Amino acid sequence: MAVLVLCSPVGSPGATTTALGLTLSWPRDVLLADCDRDPSQAVLAGYLRGLDAGGRSLVGLAQVYREAGALESDLLRHCVPLNQDGHAQRRHLPGFTSAGTARLFEHVWGPLGEAFASLDRRGVDVIVDAGRVTHHGLPLALLTSADAVVVCVRSSLRSLAGLRIHLATLSDQLASLPVAVGLGLAVVGPDRPYSSGEIAAQFGVPVWARPPWDPRAAAVLSDGEDEPRHFSSSRLLGALRDDARVISERLARGRDRASGMVPA
Ligand SMILES: Nc1ncnc2c1ncn2[C@@H]1O[C@H](COP(=O)(O)OP(=O)(O)O)[C@@H](O)[C@H]1O
Ligand SMILES: [Mg+2]
Repeated sequence: MAVLVLCSPVGSPGATTTALGLTLSWPRDVLLADCDRDPSQAVLAGYLRGLDAGGRSLVGLAQVYREAGALESDLLRHCVPLNQDGHAQRRHLPGFTSAGTARLFEHVWGPLGEAFASLDRRGVDVIVDAGRVTHHGLPLALLTSADAVVVCVRSSLRSLAGLRIHLATLSDQLASLPVAVGLGLAVVGPDRPYSSGEIAAQFGVPVWARPPWDPRAAAVLSDGEDEPRHFSSSRLLGALRDDARVISERLARGRDRASGMVPA
């Protein structure tokens, strides 16, 4: 069970789409938390087609924290259902509702990360959509509770140039943490033109996800477009299912190693 943080260095490579696709394919119960500090309500307005969250959001949770000093017991109450299939319960925690709110959140990231990690006891993993890596990186207090960070990029030179700049900030942040936090890449649309192998070798960071280029299937996830025929067996969903299984197994092994259950 784990907390996985997704982010993007520059532009809009597809971090939210990939985070949502992984969430919908995740092999266990899972919560997708919109922690983008540049708020857009991307999942509520996109995939969920303008669903009224009835006040449930990060902001509501912050209010709980101010009043009660704890988040854990209220976290799931602030989530909306994404869908429920036979295997797993999938939820979404909507993000900030107005520009600038994130600035008031500095003291909440740490307790929020701890609340995410505590869902482990209920058998729930958390996928955090952290949005852009700014010149300050990502909220360090949130990273403290992460098992791994996945940086989403496209395979173009422009996207990779942005990765080169912001990866250094993120790597420094991760190196400053007292616990080891895994780092991987998600290459959205590999081979356009660089392959994931070339990108991994160039940056010295492994590629953990390779969602193929598929604008029609991606638009269902990012914009709530109607599902094309055979959506669930599309190349994009198939690849995300494989990636979700491999990443969740990797995170579970990391946790077992950290707790001394298996040798490193
Ligand atoms: N695998 C993909 N193939 C094609 N288009 C994609 C893919 N993933 C995302 N997109 C598209 O990229 C655009 C930006 O996606 P989004 O997830 O909002 O990016 P970000 O969260 O990084 O800003 C959207 O139009 C989305 O449909
Ligand atoms: Mg996004």
